[in-house]
Amino acid sequence: MEKQNRLNTSRIVHGHWRLNEWNLSPQQLLSLTQQCVDVGVTSFDHADIYGNYSCESLFGNVLNLQKELRHQLQIISKCGIKLVSDHYPERTIKSYDYSYQHIIYSAENSLRHLRTDYLDVLLLHRPSPFLNPNEVAKAFSHLLESGKVRAFGVSNFSPQSFEMLQKHCPMRLVTNQIEISPWCLEHFDNGNMDFLSGEKIQPMAWSPLAGGRFSQPNSASDQRIYNVLREIMVEIGATSIESVVYSWILAHPAEIVPIVGSGKIERIRTAVEALQQPLTPEQWFRIFIAAKGTDLL
Ligand SMILES: NC(=O)c1ccc[n+]([C@@H]2O[C@H](COP(=O)([O-])OP(=O)(O)OC[C@H]3O[C@@H](n4cnc5c(N)ncnc54)[C@H](OP(=O)(O)O)[C@@H]3O)[C@@H](O)[C@H]2O)c1
Repeated sequence: MEKQNRLNTSRIVHGHWRLNEWNLSPQQLLSLTQQCVDVGVTSFDHADIYGNYSCESLFGNVLNLQKELRHQLQIISKCGIKLVSDHYPERTIKSYDYSYQHIIYSAENSLRHLRTDYLDVLLLHRPSPFLNPNEVAKAFSHLLESGKVRAFGVSNFSPQSFEMLQKHCPMRLVTNQIEISPWCLEHFDNGNMDFLSGEKIQPMAWSPLAGGRFSQPNSASDQRIYNVLREIMVEIGATSIESVVYSWILAHPAEIVPIVGSGKIERIRTAVEALQQPLTPEQWFRIFIAAKGTDLL
């Protein structure tokens, strides 16, 4: 059993939330996965609920096609949200469940669906007003000791919720997966970025391109961000606006790990290319200020 104290993913992660929309055959998804690995994107982000509980199995089919691939990859999954779904007809409302039983049940389901015997990282998907940290700690310890999960973290947590859980867990929580982009600065304002930087915990950034919103600005604020991204794209000789967004995320000293949500290899390559495209602090601030809509004090 390998113990991990730091997030152990590739610098760019591929997100599988939209996997069932890509309509790829197992062979096509295998080919996409291999192309990701070839450009250094070896980590894949899942959740039990993605695609109404279908995405993990779609990726599991790929791992079954080429079993030796698993050891080149890192797989992240999440648990805790209970969706109303035809798979669970007894549920009448959406709720969260972080009981020992549910975490174990969910992690074991993820392993079965993904056709693997371990997860590299398991995250609690959202903070819950009904969370018992002792139950979570017990479940995490069991999963770690049995070798089923190598590292643990959270998603969408505040610094307070993170610290509260960390106090109860014997292992170090390795990430907080949060929304970060020029269209979502929330975590620069709520103390999360300071907290994670101070604790040397690498954040993962979901929806780094705000789900594609950047490409069609339809508000004054979107247009302002777009204009600055365009200016900087020209200045640094970047090939696309989105690569400047990835560079903005990658430039942050907290070593944020962006999760690319596109199913197209050329768009995944764009994120990888941004690694070679550093921004100056001033360029970083121009994007930040355009996104905030006000000058710094
Ligand atoms: N923890 C959480 O609560 C949470 C929440 C949301 C997401 N996530 C994770 O974060 C990952 C990324 O989120 P996201 O899918 O919203 O990310 P995103 O990268 O912001 O958005 C991807 C979407 O933008 C579209 N798009 C349009 N133009 C694009 C361009 N030039 N380049 C790239 N994409 C473009 C993509 O379409 P094409 O496929 O056609 O390129 C895709 O539908 C998810 O897969 C999931 O793993 C986590």
